[in-house]
Amino acid sequence: MYYSSMKRTLRPLYSILLLILVAATFTIRVMLHPNGSFQLKHESPIVKTLKKPVFNATLLRYASIDIGEPKLKQEIDELLEGRFRNRGRQRSFLSSGKYHIDVRLRSSKGTPLQLRSPEFYRLWLSFRTYLSDWSRKRRFYPDVMSDLVNEVKLLIDGHSRKKYKTCAVVGNSGILLQSDYGKLIDSHEAVIRLNNARTTRFEKNVGSKTSISFVNSNILHLCARREGCFCHPYGLNVPIVMYICQPLQFFDYLVCNASHKVPIIVTDPRFDVLCARIVKYYSLKRFVESSGKDLDQWGSTHGGSMFHYSSGMQAIMLGLGICEKVSVFGFGRSDLARHHYHTNQKAELDIHDYEAEYDFYHDLITRPEAIPFISDKFMFPPVVMYH
Ligand SMILES: *[C@@H]1O[C@H](CO)[C@@H](O)[C@H](O)[C@H]1NC(C)=O
Ligand SMILES: *[C@@H]1O[C@H](CO)[C@@H](O)[C@H](O)[C@H]1NC(C)=O
Repeated sequence: MYYSSMKRTLRPLYSILLLILVAATFTIRVMLHPNGSFQLKHESPIVKTLKKPVFNATLLRYASIDIGEPKLKQEIDELLEGRFRNRGRQRSFLSSGKYHIDVRLRSSKGTPLQLRSPEFYRLWLSFRTYLSDWSRKRRFYPDVMSDLVNEVKLLIDGHSRKKYKTCAVVGNSGILLQSDYGKLIDSHEAVIRLNNARTTRFEKNVGSKTSISFVNSNILHLCARREGCFCHPYGLNVPIVMYICQPLQFFDYLVCNASHKVPIIVTDPRFDVLCARIVKYYSLKRFVESSGKDLDQWGSTHGGSMFHYSSGMQAIMLGLGICEKVSVFGFGRSDLARHHYHTNQKAELDIHDYEAEYDFYHDLITRPEAIPFISDKFMFPPVVMYH
């Protein structure tokens, strides 16, 4: 009784206080407006809704064009019609590097599949279903960031729609060997690792906990040649999130998903499109600003239709969607460091524009409102990058 009556007497007090506060803010606003113009700005403390810069419309338009789109559409149509026998010589976007794509199909036992077998036929029907769904869904959708919790976190967790409190996204740069971040990395609620880089022997530098294994489908394709699609440097219970590089690799996905204990989650194709646009925007911007050349010339120096965001970039984007706080490790390079901490690979693949991606990370940390294409409704979590 006493409590509720006290609440009642307090309520008008609160209202008055609130009024005073509003009035005070208002006065300051008006005072700050020397011309006395009377605009009530919708300013809130959320970073993203701070003043959005005016984006250059030409850059936005160029970034929205996917040069590889017609070829991809044609490839998908052919696959859906069942014409895929002679794809052996097709170049994949990573086949120029250390990956050589073997398009011969394998069963879950790792043996080559006979094209006329019932097992193949069953696989083929699922393949068509998944590929056509994926292809239909593949378009630009700026709100996709807000769907990631449901699409990834919920699938992994089974029940919780809550974001992870803290995440570490661990890239594979050789700079990781220069610090002992292992313990710090493992102290995050979720640790996202990339492309099956091993942690064994590097625990001091990279930690040992893995919550999500983020890979591209070329990696899964390599796993698919092994018995049971063995793809688990981090253990059999670590879920895999994967983006599709080539539509044919839905076969690997189906074979591997069926033989794995935990789900393999294919990234939403709308999420892929969003990542592609953002990286291309930063790449175009950097290209005109540093070379002074025309935008039309961008393609010839960036792999044209093979141009692609890096796995690391999309893993960070995933972190933004499913975590309340993102720490980034193992991104960036130094003359003293290897390209990857776990291999001796030297050259960076020219289909990626790492410099442009660093520009993107810089905006992410210092002024996320300057990032194009992502819906205003999305609230960026704080991001910290460890060097
Ligand atoms: C937009 O960028 C293009 C390419 O760099 C440039 O030619 C054009 O002048 C820019 N437009 C504006 C309004 O700044
Ligand atoms: C992948 O595996 C999960 C179980 O781990 C299953 O629920 C899902 O339907 C599978 N997806 C496909 C496409 O077979």
